[in-house]
Amino acid sequence: MNHLVAPSILAADFANLQRDIELINKSEADWLHVDIMDGLFVPNISFGFPVIKAIKKYADKPLDVHLMIIDPDRYLKDFKEAGAAVITVHLEACPNLHRTIQHIKELGCKAGVALNPHSPVALLEDIVADLDLVLIMSVNPGFGGQRFIEQTYKKLNDINTFKKQLNPNLLIEVDGGVDIGNATKLINSGANVLVAGSSVFASINPTQAITNLKNAK
Ligand code: DX5
Ligand code: ZN
Repeated sequence: MNHLVAPSILAADFANLQRDIELINKSEADWLHVDIMDGLFVPNISFGFPVIKAIKKYADKPLDVHLMIIDPDRYLKDFKEAGAAVITVHLEACPNLHRTIQHIKELGCKAGVALNPHSPVALLEDIVADLDLVLIMSVNPGFGGQRFIEQTYKKLNDINTFKKQLNPNLLIEVDGGVDIGNATKLINSGANVLVAGSSVFASINPTQAITNLKNAK
């Protein structure tokens, strides 16, 4: 399949959220990536349900919700009701990950698991067949605008091996420090969803930046 591009709203201008969502609506973006941070799992707080609902009101693209929160089971239904199409939880935040994934699927959402940079892909071996998506963090979660971690390419190769053996339809998302300079290598390493925050919204032409990521091969 051709890769998807998911601009991260975390890097948008929060005082002009409607304007930036409409920019994404008119662009070649496939999804809108929404980062939720609780100040516990990661050392930062982003935003909650009122803001997600406001985003959903204007967004034409599916909301790809990345939960950087502990014990996400408490809120899965609320994220669905706020408009999530994809819900991704962190392996490191879920002691009963299999149950959490079943819960997300029962809600009618695509279910994803995210891995922090220090977590080996091997930890997913017994759950990968149940997933719609794996998100490989290419920075430590919590902030936009950080430097890409080179070890990510090896992890993408590892998850791509599991995909071939266990789940050919798996989506492999990469998140953090993605830009036009590394997009081709990421795609060639197996990534098929590119999340991009600052490389889109800090660009002088965000629409063109999205097109460039979409055209990378
Ligand atoms: C980081 C978030 C990312 C972030 C990416 O914790 O998960 O989605 O918005 O931002 P950039 O592309 O600027 O690294
Ligand atoms: Zn994210």
